[in-house]
Amino acid sequence: MFTANPIPTDVEYSPPQKRHSDPKIAGLRRWVRPKLLAAPSEFDLASTADEEHRNTVIHRLQSLLQHNNVQIGQTEYEELEQGVIDDLLGFGAIESLVRDRSYSEIMVNGPDVIFAERKGKMEETEFIFDDEEHIQWTAQRIVRPLQREFNRRNPMVDARLPDGSRVHLIMPPSALQGTTITIRKFPEKALTWQDLVQYGSLTEDVADFLRACVIARLNIVVSGGTGSGKTTLLNVISNFIPDDERTLTIEDSAELQLSQRHVVSLETAAAVPGSDEGQLRIRDLVKGALRMRPDRIVVGEIRDGAALDMLQAMNTGHDGSLTTVHSNSPRDAVSRLETLAMMAGMDLPVLIVRSQIASAVNLIIQQARLKDGSRKITQITEVQGLEGENVILQNIFTYTTNGKPGFHPSHEGGGQLMANGLRPKFTERFSEYGIEIPPRLFIS
Ligand SMILES: Nc1ncnc2c1ncn2[C@@H]1O[C@H](COP(=O)(O)OP(=O)(O)O)[C@@H](O)[C@H]1O
Ligand SMILES: [Mg+2]
Repeated sequence: MFTANPIPTDVEYSPPQKRHSDPKIAGLRRWVRPKLLAAPSEFDLASTADEEHRNTVIHRLQSLLQHNNVQIGQTEYEELEQGVIDDLLGFGAIESLVRDRSYSEIMVNGPDVIFAERKGKMEETEFIFDDEEHIQWTAQRIVRPLQREFNRRNPMVDARLPDGSRVHLIMPPSALQGTTITIRKFPEKALTWQDLVQYGSLTEDVADFLRACVIARLNIVVSGGTGSGKTTLLNVISNFIPDDERTLTIEDSAELQLSQRHVVSLETAAAVPGSDEGQLRIRDLVKGALRMRPDRIVVGEIRDGAALDMLQAMNTGHDGSLTTVHSNSPRDAVSRLETLAMMAGMDLPVLIVRSQIASAVNLIIQQARLKDGSRKITQITEVQGLEGENVILQNIFTYTTNGKPGFHPSHEGGGQLMANGLRPKFTERFSEYGIEIPPRLFIS
């Protein structure tokens, strides 16, 4: 994210030296590209790591140049060959960034400006595309094998690459600098609960408590802002689900990485271009999932009327469901769920929806990105039920700095998640599942 390392305004920013190709090489590269393919899609599934395909491209390139009597020097030829291989078998100008696992995100802001993030640091790179046509070449190579269209009728595409990375494309005239490509790579290894303990996001005791909550089939909502670590925490607690339970995960774009075997991962689908057919929304998938004999339903994020379907699932015996919602406090999460459930358009009275929330949700975990940039659990809150018109919430653990409990995500780091001295009402369920949680865990 840009805000993480802003470009200082007091010193003049100088972009890195760009790798401009010689106009002659760029021209040749543009000319040979389409001529080396038997059909536009011929090498769509190939990669630059593919020795055989590389040799085919080199062979064709050399005979094309020979055939047309093109005379170029050895260094120029080598530059051309590398560029053509990247264009035909890879991601064009950004191929080396895509292949290098240490880059987590790549952003192409038109042909001349390409940024990349590595180890949390975002920097402009020396790479450039020759021109708009060159980016379009790569953009089309990205979308073609995904059966997607990227053109004036469909000027914006959001898709998942075969390796799980996300790619977003938008073209002119909406993208003013030229075709924009944003790639967010799929992390090789997801963070584990041990990692989170090491980062101070939670304590080992709290990890034990959360594991007990998951095994005892509590319905849990992770609440937090964008980039606060909701999905990461959801992934960690989903990995606490016992191996023999059938788990269905439902996401807009698959990010969860569960280690269990009996897992079915579902992802929403966009409509077929130019129609409303083929669309599967979170709502559709939640309803479908209920017919797939789930023991557990994990929904990546609830952001629309799917909230109602999820609440109904939780209330009709699909205990142990897990999800996240975008909100800044457990109280806020409740009202957000209420608003979202109302969006389902069932014309339910708000009090009915509220009572569904109160009976469905057992636990809310608040995740936040603190002032110092660290990501922490700031509250773990029990939903005790409805009293009159109010949902009763009880904090069990609260993030505390210097004795001051933090109830706000802008809270500074350096504190600890501390027990509030209250034993949650649902702990009887732990013993039903044969889990022992030492009472000292809840003593402040
Ligand atoms: N507890 C944590 N400590 C350190 N980094 C974290 C933590 N949780 C998440 N991250 C990192 O923060 C980024 C955003 O996390 P993510 O879970 O996708 O947030 P959200 O789902 O709230 O948008 C990811 O790069 C992730 O690896
Ligand atoms: Mg997320």
